[in-house]
Parts: sequence; C-alpha cells; structure tokens
Amino acid sequence: MVVRNICCIGAGYVGGPTMAVIAYKCPDIKVTVVDVNEARIKAWNDEDISNIPIYEPGLEDIVAEARDRNLFFSTDIEKAIDEAEMIFISVNTPTKTYGLGKGKAADLKYIELCARQIASVAKTDKIVVEKSTLPVRTAEAIKSILDNTGNGVKFHILSNPEFLAEGTAVQDLLNPDRVLIGGETNEDGFVAINALVDVYANWVGRDKILTTNVWSSELSKLTANAFLAQRVSSINAISALCEQTGADVNEVSKAIGMDSRIGSKFLKASVGFGGSCFQKDILNLVYIAKSYGLNEVADYWEQVIKMNDYQKRRFASNIVKTLYNTVSGKKIVFLGWAFKKDTNDTRESAAIYVADDLLNEEANIAVYDPKVEKEIVYRDIDNLNTRTSELNRKHIEVVNDPYEACKDAYAIAVLTEWDEFKTYDWQRIYDKMKKPAFVFDGRNIIDGEKLREIGFVFRRIGN
Ligand code: UDX
Ligand code: UDX
Ligand code: ADP
Repeated sequence: MVVRNICCIGAGYVGGPTMAVIAYKCPDIKVTVVDVNEARIKAWNDEDISNIPIYEPGLEDIVAEARDRNLFFSTDIEKAIDEAEMIFISVNTPTKTYGLGKGKAADLKYIELCARQIASVAKTDKIVVEKSTLPVRTAEAIKSILDNTGNGVKFHILSNPEFLAEGTAVQDLLNPDRVLIGGETNEDGFVAINALVDVYANWVGRDKILTTNVWSSELSKLTANAFLAQRVSSINAISALCEQTGADVNEVSKAIGMDSRIGSKFLKASVGFGGSCFQKDILNLVYIAKSYGLNEVADYWEQVIKMNDYQKRRFASNIVKTLYNTVSGKKIVFLGWAFKKDTNDTRESAAIYVADDLLNEEANIAVYDPKVEKEIVYRDIDNLNTRTSELNRKHIEVVNDPYEACKDAYAIAVLTEWDEFKTYDWQRIYDKMKKPAFVFDGRNIIDGEKLREIGFVFRRIGN
C-alpha cells in the first residue's frame, strides 16, 4: 500500500516538526497538520516565517520550502481525517491532575477524543499511528474505541514513538539513530507497518528502521526516556558528593564517559532535568509497574525523579546559604528559563522550581531568557499555585536586556545553557552588581577562572 495523504492531529512540539520533515522529504505525499488551537494554526501559516509557533534551529527553512506545496496547517480536522489514508495522533498527554492515578498516570482524554473523532468521520480504511508518548497498551485502547464506534471501516493501529530532542529536532528527524514502528503481528498489521516503513525510507536507511510488536514499541519509548533521565540523575547524585569531597564532577564525567560501555553522552551534571517527557514518562512507568504489583520496579525508577527534585532544591538552598542565609528582598538574576538551550519550551524546567523555592525565601527574581516570552514565565510560576499571581508578579520581573537585569543584583543563577551566556561582558556585569557579586552556574558552562579574576564569587554544580 502506498500512502499519498497523511493527516496529523496536534501541531505541537512533536507533530509540527515531524510532519514538516516528512513533507519536506516526501514531496509526493500531502501532509495536513490539524489542531483545535486556532491561534497555533494561524501562527504556523503566518506569512512571516519567523512567527511559526515553535522555535527549532533549521525548522523555518524546512517549513518555508514545504508549506503550501505539500504541507498544510488547518483547523478543519474532519476534512483532513476524511482525506487521509494515514493519521498520526500527536496530541499532548500530560500527567493526570485529578482522580485515579493523579500525579502519575498519563491523562489520555485528548487521545480518546481523537480516536472518537476519527471513528465518527472515517468512511475509508485508515492506518492510525500513535506518535505521542503513551503508556503501554494505549494502542489497544485506541483500537477498541475505533472498532466499536466506527462505520464498519478497518483501522490498523501502529505505534511510532518519536525520539527527537527539542533544540535539535530537525537534525534528529533528518538523521535519526533509528525509527521504531510497532504493529500487529498479522498480515494486515504487516501491510500497515510496511506502509509507514516506506514513508520513512524516503530518507532513512532501511537498516535503521526497526519493526516490533506494538507493546515493545510503546515500552521502548518509556524505557529510552527513563534511561536517559537516569543518567542525568546518576551524575547529579555524584555532583552532590563531589561538592563535599573536593572531586570535580566534570572530571568524573569525562573519566567514566571514556569507558565505551558507559559512553560520554548525557553525563552533564546540571540543576536538574526538565522537559515535557522525562518526568512524565517515568511517572508512567512507575504507575504501570505498580499496577502490575511490581513495587520494587516502581520504587527503583521513582528514585530517578526524587533525585532530580533533590538537585533542584539543593541548588536553590545553596544560593540561600551562600548569601548569608537570607535572600529576602535581594535581587537574583536568572539567566535562562527554558528547560534546555535552543528551545522556547519551558515545560518542567528546573528554573520554575528553583524560582519557587527562592520566592518562598522572599527573593526578588529578574528573569532573562533569549526565547521565552514574559507571559510564559508568569504562567509557569502561577501554575504551581504556591502563591497568588499578584505576589508572583510583584517578585518576578521578566527583562529583555541581561545587562540591565544585573543592575544592583546580589547574585546571578545560570539555569539554561544558552551559548550567549558564555560570551557576555562579565566585567560590565560585575560593575553593575552589589558586592560581593555571586554567580551560581547550574549548567557548568561559564568560565569560572575568568569570573574569579574579575572578582566574582563563583560556584558551580559538582565542584
Ligand atoms: C567489573 C567492571 O566491568 C570492571 O571495569 C572493573 O574493573 C571490575 O568490575 P567484572 O566484575 O570482572 O568487571 O565483570 P563485568 O563484565 O563488568 O560483569 C559484572 C557482572 O555483571 C557479571 O556477573 C555479568 O554477568 C553481569 N552483567 C554484565 C550482566 O548481567 N549484564 C550485562 O549486560 C553486563
Ligand atoms: C528527551 C529525549 O532526549 C528525546 O529522545 C525524547 O524524544 C523526548 O525527551 P528533550 O526533553 O527534548 O528530549 O531534551 P533532552 O536533550 O533529552 O534533555 C532533557 C533534560 O535533561 C534537559 O533539561 C537537559 O538540560 C537535561 N540534561 C540532558 C542534563 O541535565 N544533562 C545532560 O547530560 C543531558
Ligand atoms: P507535544 O510536545 O506532545 O507535541 P504540545 O502540547 O506541544 O505537545 O502539542 C499538542 C497539540 O495537540 C496542542 O497544540 C493541542 O492544541 C493539540 N490537541 C490536543 N487535543 C486535540 C484534539 N482533540 N484535536 C486536535 N488537536 C488537539
């Protein structure tokens, strides 16, 4: 079967870039990305390409080439479903904030809505691809909804988890380590799997396209994210020990990373991992393990999150301790709010939690991030519901000029590893600050020796 028409439900961080690259690489396939969020779709269609709603290096060029050629963004969800042979579901699956599984299980309400909408609209057979990260056995749930409410048409469900990382999404999509496709292990299932394999084979070597059963595919995605997060928590645990013992975590990372069995990537100690996936996927894994009575397995993975929470709290409390046990009324500058560099995404960013702890100590915070908008910063901190939004606005200012931000500041905390922070005129910053001037590098990117020569009191993670 040859796919000519693809629809993707959800125009977010996953659906948007993924479909843009499919369209870019497969000019013969019409790709329509739909979303209920009208503003988002409008932004994807903006004539000024720099206004597309997601910032990713290289994405603008890809969208500029494919858009209105074979890549379309629309709010007409039903029409796009009707026309497509293959439908990707790429809607958000946040952790449940209510009821059974609250704080742990994935909230599947958006997925279920999509499945019901597909079922009600479809008049021809469809291949439905789950692209969002979902708990193991979601495909089964989608299939059950589709088969029982459909119009007698046949649905084939595939799991095709996305492994792109934000900030490098375009490169990850153009040149993936592997593509994983899970499907039913029967004749119809193989036909559906092969249809999707053929789409990717337009630019990915077939040896890198793995096919498995649905459940292996779903579990692989959760496991990959759990392992990656575990590496960060493991090195962060060692960073705490380094700070007490005189070892340097950068040296330890390098030394262990040269062991080819361990590998050098993903061993950067930091203020803590963030992003929409790691915590959510581990919580999911924990929830699934518990639901099968595997309590030891659940506890093992839960520790990765506990260590991450500890690292964020530890960073905040180190600031307070170092500033003579009080930050009340003191201005502290945050360089960076995004959960990592080269993205405007702030979901679960460590900065949010560090800010919350410091606000509890009555600090004043000035936030500078090159890509994050003011309202997003306030939304993030308001969402914690720790204090009123009036109080949050009173104690947090969001600024456009990092040098202005540092005027009369007592301390600077580096929360995101944006490259531009490395090349700042630190003497100019020093001159504007209260003395002693403190820098807390939560990302180990700043040249500490240089700052100490200027006169800063410089602290970083794991040293
Ligand atoms: C280990 C370290 O590898 C080595 O660098 C250090 O100097 C000493 O400790 P060793 O204990 O000799 O070496 O063997 P290793 O190959 O690491 O295996 C340790 C145990 O882990 C074995 O029981 C092995 O069967 C088990 N293992 C290893 C697994 O169960 N799965 C694996 O994937 C790898
Ligand atoms: C992650 C996975 O990498 C990706 O495969 C999956 O599809 C989605 O989840 P993402 O969350 O976009 O991607 O970014 P990632 O680069 O994995 O970073 C996650 C967090 O870990 C960031 O906050 C980052 O700063 C932090 N991190 C990463 C570290 O603190 N140290 C490291 O060594 C690596
Ligand atoms: P992700 O990082 O998984 O891509 P995002 O939140 O960035 O998550 O994107 C998910 C998108 O899915 C949002 O733009 C949201 O409006 C959209 N969405 C959620 N539910 C539906 C639905 N039932 N129909 C269409 N779009 C939906």
